[in-house]
Amino acid sequence: RYQIMAGGAMNEIVRALAALLLALLPTACSAPADAPARPPLQGARIGGPFTLVDQDGRTVTDRSFAGKYRIVYFGYTFCPDVCPTELQTMTSALDLLGPLAEKVAPLFITVDPERDTVPVMADYVKLFGPRLVGLTGSPAQVAAAARAYRVYFAKSTPKETSEYLMDHSSFLYLMGPDGRFRALFRQGTSAQELADSIRARLSAAS
Ligand code: NI
Repeated sequence: RYQIMAGGAMNEIVRALAALLLALLPTACSAPADAPARPPLQGARIGGPFTLVDQDGRTVTDRSFAGKYRIVYFGYTFCPDVCPTELQTMTSALDLLGPLAEKVAPLFITVDPERDTVPVMADYVKLFGPRLVGLTGSPAQVAAAARAYRVYFAKSTPKETSEYLMDHSSFLYLMGPDGRFRALFRQGTSAQELADSIRARLSAAS
């Protein structure tokens, strides 16, 4: 009996330590501290033309979303934490917008086209409801899109036995129906803040 209890207590301690370690690990999602500060640079041009492939295998460009606002997020499906959280924020914000959400296209652009093939993207975006558009493409297409949005990304050195992660900047971009940059939201912005900001812009525009 004593041994069973000790074992249980030990498991508790191990779990607590594991949780603490996880909390202390740097996120693989955000740019390292020494990475050059990217957006929001005053006057920097953010956004521009892109040609990518959606989760149904169709070629899409920035013009495919003409007339709609877009929320754009760059990340990757293998991301353990930040990407899913930010994508959840994005889709929750659209839920909060109600019918106004029809005017907004939520776009998730991968920075990991090597693993994020069309079928992988198709399975992944489904996890966030019916609206999210997943975009991948050739490494050159993805790099061009990331460059246009001033997105930093780099493969992080894989440990011997584990798969590589991607370091990447983590911002939500709001683009207007004309495809021009409107606003940038930092990681950790709540769905409510995001929804309020989009709603304000939508009503100002109408
Ligand atoms: Ni990520």
